[in-house]
Amino acid sequence: MKKDLLSISDLDRKEAEALIEQALHMKREGPSSLLAGKTLALLFEKPSLRTKVSFQMAMHRLGGHSIYMSPEEVGLGKREPVADVARELSRYVDAITARTFAHETVRILAEHSPVPVINALSDLEHPCQSLADLLTIREKKGKLSGLTLAYVGDGNNVANSLLLAACLVGVNFSIATPQGYQLEEGMLNRGKEYAAAGGSRVRTTTDPYEAVKDADVVYTDVWTSMGQEKEGQKRRHAFSGFQVDTRMLDAAKKDVIFMHPLPAHPGEEIAPGLLDDPRSVVFDEAENRLHAQKALLARLLAPGKEG
Ligand code: NVA
Repeated sequence: MKKDLLSISDLDRKEAEALIEQALHMKREGPSSLLAGKTLALLFEKPSLRTKVSFQMAMHRLGGHSIYMSPEEVGLGKREPVADVARELSRYVDAITARTFAHETVRILAEHSPVPVINALSDLEHPCQSLADLLTIREKKGKLSGLTLAYVGDGNNVANSLLLAACLVGVNFSIATPQGYQLEEGMLNRGKEYAAAGGSRVRTTTDPYEAVKDADVVYTDVWTSMGQEKEGQKRRHAFSGFQVDTRMLDAAKKDVIFMHPLPAHPGEEIAPGLLDDPRSVVFDEAENRLHAQKALLARLLAPGKEG
């Protein structure tokens, strides 16, 4: 049966850990011809730099092809029903990667596609980012289980996937959000279930300094996600006091690393210059999108042959 990656919940702990180790291996090994003859379609409703290029280059480095379709070209659900797009595209390609506004759109694509569908960011989750994040933490810290990740900012798609991914592999997850921007309860409870099973804990607070205390990783994301532009001003107001700066990093562990999925907005969620702080690993994190996705594509398109 075909496998999809719509949510971090589509993986169990063993699978997530195996993917990270596979990504490390593939990063070391370099190009191969594992996916020769395979084609990935990239179906995007929103802009992208890292996701688009890293998926295209992942296919290229593994000997396969990719086809990018911009929002205007496809008109998902407007020019044609989402289910039909899935049924047609899957006659031509071996997997579909989709970036959508509504999570329901990527879910419908997966329901009607006989080939694997990968969520390349929806309003609910960003699982590919979280896999690259785990890979980066594993590389920088030499382990995952037992570490503490503090997320400061909006309880959004990136935070949802990160909560699940961290808890799945035994990483403690602390999150500081302003009132009204916290993680949705169902998601938080799922994270807590994973944490209980995996031996870690989840903490929520409205105080960023409380969240970052004892953190091995401090993480933030934009305050205004794609599609929320009209709320920009209201959000800048609500998130004042949540900007990650050097003082906030100083309050975490001495060897803390700073992460951000990018694009960043200096002056909003991060202080100007923070990307260049010696504790920042954001560009390694961006590179790791490529390697984590190579491992993911190998798992979905050539299971058992990854080497
Ligand atoms: N939360 C952001 C992540 C961008 C990579 C967004 O959805 O726009």
